[in-house]
Amino acid sequence: MRNLINIMDLSAKEIDGLIETACDIMKFPEKYERACEHKILATLFYEPSTRTRLSFESAMLSLGGQVLGFSEANSSSAAKGESVSDTAAIVSGYCDIIAMRHPKEGAPLVAAQTASVPIINAGDGGHYHPTQTLTDLLTVKREKGTFDNLTIGVCGDLKFGRTVHSLIGAMSRYEGVRFVLISPEELKLPRFVKQQFIKDKGIPYEQSTQLEEVMDRLDVLYMTRVQRERFFNEEDYLRLRDSYILTPDKLKSAKEDMIIMHPLPRVNEISVEVDKDPRAAYFRQAHNGKYIRMALILKLLEEAKA
Ligand code: CP
Repeated sequence: MRNLINIMDLSAKEIDGLIETACDIMKFPEKYERACEHKILATLFYEPSTRTRLSFESAMLSLGGQVLGFSEANSSSAAKGESVSDTAAIVSGYCDIIAMRHPKEGAPLVAAQTASVPIINAGDGGHYHPTQTLTDLLTVKREKGTFDNLTIGVCGDLKFGRTVHSLIGAMSRYEGVRFVLISPEELKLPRFVKQQFIKDKGIPYEQSTQLEEVMDRLDVLYMTRVQRERFFNEEDYLRLRDSYILTPDKLKSAKEDMIIMHPLPRVNEISVEVDKDPRAAYFRQAHNGKYIRMALILKLLEEAKA
């Protein structure tokens, strides 16, 4: 059974194919409106979500399919102690494909061991978020026209920010990519990401604690929220949460064609005045999420049939 647990489960060629399908869906939505008739998507969300869950549901409905699921662990039998493996085995009998978000790293992989339908990781703890990365890649492709020769600045909570971990993995496969890692000391990129996707591949990178110092060389600035839900104590969160606040003033030295991305939700890290800047791509990015998830559902259901 083909699942999507880690973005590296997809080859670069497959990602190109998904992007092509997503762009075709955007242009000709009517071609796809019955593509998943009689198919059911289950969204099993043990953690809060707006974009991921609703864009998955909107994606399936726009493909002519149906959706069921839960949006918090407390409204499912997880509250009575049911395991992820049992839930996955049971829900497989009620649907054709499952998107799962869970606070524990590896939970969707555990679910995939007992599920008899494809499992999509919709975010597992501070680990990975592959469908956000597909959304991000579609955005980079649409905004910049290429993945090659880009200097990508990732800024904020690089330790717990699962979207950053998946994005760095995916971007590490393209020619001439460079990374600029901007974070406070306490929120640096974890070793499991840095070693595997940057150092072992010999990709040029630099680290900084100051966004303004590196702004002028970035082609993509990927801002992130400090992940309050992953902190062990509130004091550390309060000290670090406003480490970076992007304002129009700080963008003065940025390239004219740099794009500003953010997986959202934002808290304070991008001031609302930045929203008017044409380089602010984050709302367009969130919109792209629906179309790339439509393409992913189509691909996984097609492969499950084979
Ligand atoms: N980007 C993202 O995962 O947003 P949600 O938490 O709202 O799904």
